Amino acid sequence: MSASDSVTVRVPAKVNVQLAVGGPRPDGFHDLANVFLAVGLYDEVTVTPADELRITVSGPDAHQVPTDRTNLAARAALALAERHGREARVHLHIAKDIPVAGGMAGGSADGAAALVGCDALWGTGASREELLEICAELGSDVPFSLIGGAALGRGRGELLTPLEVGGAFHWVFAVADGGLSTPAVYRECDRLRGDAPVPDPEPSPALLEALRTGDAAALAAAVDNDLQAAAVSLRPSLAETLRAGTEAGALASLVSGSGPTCAFLVKDGQDAEAVAAALLASGSCRAARVATGPAEGARLVAG
Ligand code: C5P
Repeated sequence: MSASDSVTVRVPAKVNVQLAVGGPRPDGFHDLANVFLAVGLYDEVTVTPADELRITVSGPDAHQVPTDRTNLAARAALALAERHGREARVHLHIAKDIPVAGGMAGGSADGAAALVGCDALWGTGASREELLEICAELGSDVPFSLIGGAALGRGRGELLTPLEVGGAFHWVFAVADGGLSTPAVYRECDRLRGDAPVPDPEPSPALLEALRTGDAAALAAAVDNDLQAAAVSLRPSLAETLRAGTEAGALASLVSGSGPTCAFLVKDGQDAEAVAAALLASGSCRAARVATGPAEGARLVAG
Protein backbone atom coordinates (compact mmCIF):
# COMPACT_ATOMS: atom_id res chain seq x y z
CA MET A 1 0.00 0.00 0.00
CA SER A 2 1.48 3.39 -0.91
CA ALA A 3 1.63 6.39 1.41
CA SER A 4 -0.99 8.13 -0.72
CA ASP A 5 -3.51 5.51 0.44
CA SER A 6 -3.62 7.19 3.82
CA VAL A 7 -4.46 10.65 5.09
CA THR A 8 -3.35 12.35 8.29
CA VAL A 9 -5.30 15.01 10.16
CA ARG A 10 -3.84 17.26 12.85
CA VAL A 11 -6.23 18.52 15.53
CA PRO A 12 -5.68 20.84 18.51
CA ALA A 13 -6.55 20.69 22.21
CA LYS A 14 -8.75 23.36 23.80
CA VAL A 15 -8.95 25.37 26.98
CA ASN A 16 -12.19 27.00 28.14
CA VAL A 17 -11.44 30.61 29.01
CA GLN A 18 -15.00 30.91 30.27
CA LEU A 19 -17.24 28.01 31.26
CA ALA A 20 -20.53 29.29 32.68
CA VAL A 21 -22.74 26.34 33.61
CA GLY A 22 -26.53 26.52 34.04
CA GLY A 23 -28.70 24.13 36.03
CA PRO A 24 -29.22 20.51 34.91
CA ARG A 25 -31.58 20.10 31.92
CA PRO A 26 -34.19 17.34 31.68
CA ASP A 27 -31.87 15.48 29.24
CA GLY A 28 -29.07 15.42 31.83
CA PHE A 29 -26.91 18.02 30.05
CA HIS A 30 -26.31 21.58 31.26
CA ASP A 31 -26.79 24.75 29.22
CA LEU A 32 -23.50 26.57 28.85
CA ALA A 33 -21.85 29.79 27.88
CA ASN A 34 -18.62 28.10 26.84
CA VAL A 35 -15.80 30.22 25.42
CA PHE A 36 -13.40 27.81 23.73
CA LEU A 37 -9.84 28.63 22.70
CA ALA A 38 -7.93 26.05 20.63
CA VAL A 39 -4.30 25.70 21.73
CA GLY A 40 -1.29 24.25 19.97
CA LEU A 41 -1.05 20.80 21.57
CA TYR A 42 -2.01 18.34 18.87
CA ASP A 43 -3.14 14.79 18.21
CA GLU A 44 -2.68 13.35 14.72
CA VAL A 45 -5.08 10.78 13.31
CA THR A 46 -3.97 8.75 10.28
CA VAL A 47 -6.69 6.98 8.31
CA THR A 48 -5.70 4.02 6.10
CA PRO A 49 -7.93 1.55 4.20
CA ALA A 50 -8.19 -1.79 6.05
CA ASP A 51 -10.25 -4.99 6.08
CA GLU A 52 -12.18 -3.84 9.11
CA LEU A 53 -12.42 -0.93 11.56
CA ARG A 54 -9.35 -0.95 13.77
CA ILE A 55 -7.80 1.58 16.17
CA THR A 56 -4.23 1.86 17.37
CA VAL A 57 -2.78 4.55 19.62
CA SER A 58 0.79 5.72 20.20
CA GLY A 59 2.21 8.22 22.68
CA PRO A 60 3.15 8.21 26.37
CA ASP A 61 -0.48 7.81 27.59
CA ALA A 62 -1.59 5.46 24.81
CA HIS A 63 -2.51 2.71 27.28
CA GLN A 64 -5.26 4.94 28.76
CA VAL A 65 -7.07 5.34 25.41
CA PRO A 66 -9.82 2.83 24.48
CA THR A 67 -9.25 1.06 21.16
CA ASP A 68 -12.79 -0.30 20.84
CA ARG A 69 -15.90 1.28 19.36
CA THR A 70 -16.35 3.59 22.36
CA ASN A 71 -13.45 5.65 21.02
CA LEU A 72 -14.88 8.83 19.45
CA ALA A 73 -12.64 8.33 16.40
CA ALA A 74 -14.30 4.95 15.74
CA ARG A 75 -17.75 6.41 16.33
CA ALA A 76 -16.99 9.24 13.89
CA ALA A 77 -15.92 6.80 11.15
CA LEU A 78 -19.02 4.66 11.73
CA ALA A 79 -21.37 7.68 11.69
CA LEU A 80 -19.97 9.03 8.41
CA ALA A 81 -19.95 5.56 6.81
CA GLU A 82 -23.57 4.92 7.79
CA ARG A 83 -24.76 8.24 6.37
CA HIS A 84 -23.05 7.51 3.06
CA GLY A 85 -24.11 3.86 2.78
CA ARG A 86 -20.66 2.32 3.09
CA GLU A 87 -18.68 0.34 5.60
CA ALA A 88 -16.07 1.85 7.88
CA ARG A 89 -13.19 -0.34 6.71
CA VAL A 90 -10.34 1.78 8.01
CA HIS A 91 -7.39 1.63 10.32
CA LEU A 92 -7.37 4.75 12.53
CA HIS A 93 -4.01 5.44 14.10
CA ILE A 94 -4.02 8.09 16.82
CA ALA A 95 -0.68 9.72 17.66
CA LYS A 96 -1.70 11.09 21.05
CA ASP A 97 -0.08 14.19 22.50
CA ILE A 98 -3.16 15.82 24.13
CA PRO A 99 -3.51 14.82 27.82
CA VAL A 100 -6.00 11.92 28.17
CA ALA A 101 -9.26 12.61 30.11
CA GLY A 102 -7.67 15.93 31.06
CA GLY A 103 -10.37 18.51 30.26
CA MET A 104 -8.66 19.51 27.00
CA ALA A 105 -11.05 17.73 24.60
CA GLY A 106 -8.52 15.08 23.55
CA GLY A 107 -11.18 12.46 22.81
CA SER A 108 -13.34 15.01 21.01
CA ALA A 109 -10.32 16.10 18.96
CA ASP A 110 -9.79 12.52 17.74
CA GLY A 111 -13.47 12.29 16.76
CA ALA A 112 -13.28 15.46 14.67
CA ALA A 113 -9.96 14.39 13.12
CA ALA A 114 -11.24 10.92 12.17
CA LEU A 115 -14.29 12.49 10.55
CA VAL A 116 -12.21 14.87 8.43
CA GLY A 117 -9.80 12.03 7.56
CA CYS A 118 -12.49 9.52 6.54
CA ASP A 119 -14.28 12.18 4.51
CA ALA A 120 -11.05 12.90 2.62
CA LEU A 121 -10.04 9.24 2.17
CA TRP A 122 -13.47 8.13 0.97
CA GLY A 123 -14.08 11.24 -1.15
CA THR A 124 -17.40 11.60 0.62
CA GLY A 125 -17.53 15.33 -0.05
CA ALA A 126 -19.63 15.99 3.06
CA SER A 127 -20.48 19.66 3.54
CA ARG A 128 -19.15 21.60 6.52
CA GLU A 129 -22.73 21.64 7.88
CA GLU A 130 -23.00 17.85 7.67
CA LEU A 131 -19.62 17.37 9.37
CA LEU A 132 -20.65 19.77 12.16
CA GLU A 133 -23.95 17.91 12.56
CA ILE A 134 -22.15 14.57 12.97
CA CYS A 135 -19.70 16.21 15.40
CA ALA A 136 -22.60 17.45 17.55
CA GLU A 137 -24.05 13.91 17.64
CA LEU A 138 -20.68 12.58 18.83
CA GLY A 139 -20.24 14.99 21.75
CA SER A 140 -20.66 18.54 23.02
CA ASP A 141 -17.02 19.58 22.40
CA VAL A 142 -16.49 17.81 19.04
CA PRO A 143 -17.82 20.63 16.79
CA PHE A 144 -15.29 23.04 18.31
CA SER A 145 -12.42 20.61 17.63
CA LEU A 146 -13.43 20.74 13.97
CA ILE A 147 -13.47 24.54 13.66
CA GLY A 148 -10.69 25.52 16.09
CA GLY A 149 -9.68 29.15 16.64
CA ALA A 150 -11.95 30.60 19.32
CA ALA A 151 -15.70 30.29 19.61
CA LEU A 152 -18.64 30.81 21.92
CA GLY A 153 -20.53 27.55 22.49
CA ARG A 154 -24.18 27.77 23.61
CA GLY A 155 -26.65 24.98 24.26
CA ARG A 156 -24.58 22.09 25.63
CA GLY A 157 -21.56 23.65 23.91
CA GLU A 158 -22.28 22.47 20.35
CA LEU A 159 -23.95 25.65 18.99
CA LEU A 160 -20.92 27.65 17.94
CA THR A 161 -20.28 31.28 17.05
CA PRO A 162 -16.67 31.86 15.95
CA LEU A 163 -14.92 34.67 17.83
CA GLU A 164 -12.34 37.15 16.66
CA VAL A 165 -8.99 36.96 18.48
CA GLY A 166 -6.55 39.89 18.33
CA GLY A 167 -3.29 38.07 19.10
CA ALA A 168 -1.60 34.95 20.41
CA PHE A 169 -2.06 34.02 24.08
CA HIS A 170 0.68 32.08 25.87
CA TRP A 171 -0.27 29.16 28.12
CA VAL A 172 1.25 26.52 30.37
CA PHE A 173 -0.70 23.33 31.06
CA ALA A 174 -0.02 21.25 34.18
CA VAL A 175 -0.86 17.64 33.40
CA ALA A 176 -2.10 15.61 36.38
CA ASP A 177 -1.74 11.91 37.09
CA GLY A 178 -4.92 10.19 35.90
CA GLY A 179 -8.06 11.79 34.48
CA LEU A 180 -11.40 13.02 35.82
CA SER A 181 -14.78 11.85 34.53
CA THR A 182 -16.67 14.74 32.91
CA PRO A 183 -20.15 13.51 34.04
CA ALA A 184 -18.82 13.12 37.61
CA VAL A 185 -17.52 16.70 37.60
CA TYR A 186 -20.88 18.07 36.35
CA ARG A 187 -22.67 16.01 39.04
CA GLU A 188 -20.33 17.40 41.71
CA CYS A 189 -21.01 20.94 40.44
CA ASP A 190 -24.78 20.32 40.89
CA ARG A 191 -24.20 18.81 44.32
CA LEU A 192 -22.08 21.75 45.54
CA ARG A 193 -24.73 24.20 44.33
CA GLY A 194 -27.46 22.38 46.24
CA ASP A 195 -30.79 24.18 46.01
CA ALA A 196 -29.32 27.61 45.30
CA PRO A 197 -30.85 29.28 42.19
CA VAL A 198 -28.55 29.03 39.15
CA PRO A 199 -28.50 32.04 36.79
CA ASP A 200 -28.71 31.50 33.02
CA PRO A 201 -25.14 31.17 31.71
CA GLU A 202 -24.01 34.27 29.79
CA PRO A 203 -20.70 35.14 28.12
CA SER A 204 -18.68 37.87 29.82
CA PRO A 205 -18.47 41.03 27.63
CA ALA A 206 -15.10 41.90 29.24
CA LEU A 207 -13.73 38.47 28.33
CA LEU A 208 -14.91 38.65 24.70
CA GLU A 209 -13.34 42.13 24.41
CA ALA A 210 -10.04 40.85 25.89
CA LEU A 211 -9.96 38.07 23.27
CA ARG A 212 -10.80 40.53 20.47
CA THR A 213 -7.99 42.89 21.44
CA GLY A 214 -5.47 40.16 22.31
CA ASP A 215 -5.02 41.65 25.82
CA ALA A 216 -3.62 38.91 28.08
CA ALA A 217 -3.92 40.91 31.33
CA ALA A 218 -7.57 41.71 30.61
CA LEU A 219 -8.25 38.09 29.67
CA ALA A 220 -6.59 36.95 32.90
CA ALA A 221 -8.93 39.21 34.90
CA ALA A 222 -11.99 37.73 33.16
CA VAL A 223 -11.33 33.96 32.91
CA ASP A 224 -13.86 31.91 34.87
CA ASN A 225 -14.73 28.22 35.09
CA ASP A 226 -17.86 27.14 36.97
CA LEU A 227 -16.57 23.54 37.00
CA GLN A 228 -13.39 24.47 38.83
CA ALA A 229 -14.78 24.13 42.39
CA ALA A 230 -16.19 20.72 41.47
CA ALA A 231 -12.92 19.51 39.95
CA VAL A 232 -10.98 20.69 43.03
CA SER A 233 -13.57 19.09 45.32
CA LEU A 234 -13.03 15.73 43.57
CA ARG A 235 -9.25 16.21 43.33
CA PRO A 236 -8.17 18.47 46.25
CA SER A 237 -4.50 18.35 45.16
CA LEU A 238 -5.41 20.65 42.23
CA ALA A 239 -5.57 23.58 44.68
CA GLU A 240 -1.83 23.11 45.23
CA THR A 241 -1.15 23.00 41.47
CA LEU A 242 -3.14 26.22 40.94
CA ARG A 243 -1.29 27.92 43.80
CA ALA A 244 2.11 26.86 42.42
CA GLY A 245 1.32 28.47 39.05
CA THR A 246 0.11 31.70 40.65
CA GLU A 247 3.20 31.88 42.87
CA ALA A 248 5.38 31.34 39.78
CA GLY A 249 3.90 34.47 38.20
CA ALA A 250 1.03 33.25 36.01
CA LEU A 251 -1.46 36.01 35.10
CA ALA A 252 -4.32 33.56 35.65
CA SER A 253 -4.58 30.01 36.99
CA LEU A 254 -7.64 27.87 36.27
CA VAL A 255 -8.80 24.32 35.80
CA SER A 256 -9.15 23.46 32.10
CA GLY A 257 -12.76 22.42 31.41
CA SER A 258 -13.69 19.55 33.73
CA GLY A 259 -10.00 19.02 34.64
CA PRO A 260 -7.77 17.77 36.02
CA THR A 261 -5.36 19.63 33.70
CA CYS A 262 -4.69 23.12 35.07
CA ALA A 263 -4.16 26.03 32.67
CA PHE A 264 -1.96 29.05 33.34
CA LEU A 265 -2.15 32.18 31.21
CA VAL A 266 1.21 33.95 31.03
CA LYS A 267 2.59 37.14 29.44
CA ASP A 268 4.93 35.66 26.82
CA GLY A 269 6.96 32.64 25.77
CA GLN A 270 9.75 33.38 28.24
CA ASP A 271 7.33 33.48 31.19
CA ALA A 272 5.75 30.28 29.88
CA GLU A 273 9.09 28.44 30.16
CA ALA A 274 9.70 29.86 33.66
CA VAL A 275 6.22 28.94 34.94
CA ALA A 276 6.49 25.45 33.40
CA ALA A 277 9.84 24.91 35.16
CA ALA A 278 8.43 26.16 38.50
CA LEU A 279 5.39 23.89 38.21
CA LEU A 280 7.57 20.87 37.57
CA ALA A 281 9.89 21.80 40.44
CA SER A 282 6.87 22.14 42.79
CA GLY A 283 6.11 18.47 42.27
CA SER A 284 2.40 19.31 41.95
CA CYS A 285 2.00 17.96 38.41
CA ARG A 286 3.24 15.08 36.25
CA ALA A 287 4.22 17.23 33.26
CA ALA A 288 4.08 20.88 32.21
CA ARG A 289 3.38 21.75 28.56
CA VAL A 290 3.73 25.12 26.86
CA ALA A 291 1.41 26.16 24.00
CA THR A 292 -0.14 29.21 22.36
CA GLY A 293 -3.70 29.79 21.22
CA PRO A 294 -5.66 30.25 19.06
CA ALA A 295 -4.74 27.24 16.90
CA GLU A 296 -6.34 25.95 13.69
CA GLY A 297 -9.05 23.28 13.91
CA ALA A 298 -8.85 19.76 12.39
CA ARG A 299 -6.78 19.98 9.15
CA LEU A 300 -5.33 17.49 6.68
CA VAL A 301 -1.55 17.46 6.88
CA ALA A 302 -0.59 14.64 4.50
CA GLY A 303 -2.30 12.44 1.97
O1 C5P B 1 -21.30 15.69 25.21
P1 C5P B 1 -20.37 14.78 25.94
O2 C5P B 1 -20.60 13.33 25.60
O3 C5P B 1 -18.94 15.17 25.80
O4 C5P B 1 -20.72 14.94 27.46
C1 C5P B 1 -20.21 14.05 28.42
C2 C5P B 1 -21.02 14.23 29.71
O5 C5P B 1 -20.73 15.49 30.30
C3 C5P B 1 -22.51 14.21 29.53
O6 C5P B 1 -23.01 12.90 29.56
C4 C5P B 1 -22.98 15.03 30.73
O7 C5P B 1 -22.96 14.24 31.90
C5 C5P B 1 -21.89 16.06 30.87
N1 C5P B 1 -22.21 17.33 30.17
C6 C5P B 1 -23.20 18.14 30.70
N2 C5P B 1 -23.50 19.32 30.07
C7 C5P B 1 -22.84 19.70 28.95
C8 C5P B 1 -21.84 18.87 28.39
C9 C5P B 1 -21.54 17.69 29.03
O8 C5P B 1 -23.81 17.83 31.72
N3 C5P B 1 -23.15 20.86 28.37
